[in-house]
Amino acid sequence: MIIKVLLVLTMLSLVKVAFSATPQELLKGYEAQSGKASSAHGEQFFNAKHGKEWSCASCHENPPNHDTKHIVTGKLIKPLSPNSFPERFTDQAKVEKWFKRNCNDVLSRECSAQEKADLLSWLMTVK
Ligand code: HEC
Repeated sequence: MIIKVLLVLTMLSLVKVAFSATPQELLKGYEAQSGKASSAHGEQFFNAKHGKEWSCASCHENPPNHDTKHIVTGKLIKPLSPNSFPERFTDQAKVEKWFKRNCNDVLSRECSAQEKADLLSWLMTVK
């Protein structure tokens, strides 16, 4: 019984290690799938509308260095910049989940690895 519990705990901690990351590591991963990140492109992308009603800034505001409100529900959103809220971009599963959801809301498609690299490299410069 104890062995089983220990086994499960070990597995859980391995999963945690597998999914925890730093913004730098995530950025490297996106760049490896595309090309070198451009933070200037990332900033433009974040502020622009892409044929629909919202931009990323509709909920995260520009600069995304303070608490904001969800444009529909009014719920509090913590700052998106990892410099303002260090939990950001440290959990790969969470990052991918929200990229997928938010890119779909803003662009009606997922963001490419290049777009994610650009966005993240810019967010890492936002103080
Ligand atoms: C309609 C509101 C809304 C829009 C528009 C929006 N987001 Fe978000 N975003 C959220 C919410 C809500 C969360 C999750 C709550 C939280 O983490 O504070 C979130 C979380 C995220 C996260 C998770 C980061 C982490 O590590 O915690 C990323 C990445 C993200 N958004 C990127 C984007 C990008 C890129 C765009 C534009 C393509 C965008 N968002 C547009 C509401 C929005």
